[in-house]
Amino acid sequence: MFQKNTQASVPEPEQPISAHADRHLLYQQAVQDVQAEIDFVEQTWSELRQRPAVLLREDFCGTANTACEWVLRDPEHHAIGIDLDQYVLEWSRQNQLPELEADQIERIELLNEDVLQTRPGLADIILAMNFSYFLFLTRDDLREYFANALDGLVSDGILFLDAYGGYEAPMLLTEPRECKDEDGNDFTYIWEQAEFNPIDSCMTCHIHFEFPDKSRMQEAFSYYWRLWTLPEIREILYEAGFSKVDIYWEGTDEKKNEGNGIYMPSEIGDADPGWVCYIVAQA
Ligand SMILES: C[S@@+](CC[C@H](N)C(=O)[O-])C[C@H]1O[C@@H](n2cnc3c(N)ncnc32)[C@H](O)[C@@H]1O
Repeated sequence: MFQKNTQASVPEPEQPISAHADRHLLYQQAVQDVQAEIDFVEQTWSELRQRPAVLLREDFCGTANTACEWVLRDPEHHAIGIDLDQYVLEWSRQNQLPELEADQIERIELLNEDVLQTRPGLADIILAMNFSYFLFLTRDDLREYFANALDGLVSDGILFLDAYGGYEAPMLLTEPRECKDEDGNDFTYIWEQAEFNPIDSCMTCHIHFEFPDKSRMQEAFSYYWRLWTLPEIREILYEAGFSKVDIYWEGTDEKKNEGNGIYMPSEIGDADPGWVCYIVAQA
């Protein structure tokens, strides 16, 4: 439970679960929904372009979970994953890629590079999800990243981003959510907004995991990033040279009074306490 290579490290019975749990697996299970992400990407691409997309580049790829989902969908699909952290890429090679068929693995390339400098082959789609570009703290750095992404796209390529906000986004808070791992074991994902500086809009956030035996993986992941607003992000994408930037806002399920998972281009959003949206920037 909670780990991939059970043969490599069989846990001692008396060990707390946190001692042998795998933080990358827990992150994938609690934070990511790569099927929904790629559903959105494929649907939006087909609405905007009259040809299939082939090469997807996943920036800040971490375990390359989304890149894997892309190559799984179609034998023509290829993916490049880029991350600065060689250890997370190695985790992906050891744990994520082996879940794929041999021909799918051949269609994924993982590069241990900086997204500000990387120059791989031109992609149809670049994806930067889970707010990773919030790690750039100044307009100049964010513009440099967007400009490099634009240079990495074919002439009709599209950059897909997500963003979050709302009046709870800068609040100091701790938000637990009950999750299950792929074997159905319970664990708690805890999102903590630990510090926020209104002067530079930078904040420190942590992800912790807690287990049924009360053991805890404290600060499994930590981020120091800037809480960018949508108008800032849009302006900087245009400054970097993108020709059209749309915000895709989630619709509402009126019966449940919650998001319905359908994102449409919009100029007006709701003043929700917490929202997540997609940003679609066309080259
Ligand atoms: C929040 S994780 C994103 C994981 C995954 N993409 C997702 O959607 O959940 C951020 C990742 O960005 C990587 N990273 C941070 N700065 C980077 C840079 N300048 N170039 C490439 N990767 C970077 C980190 O190593 C980390 O794996």
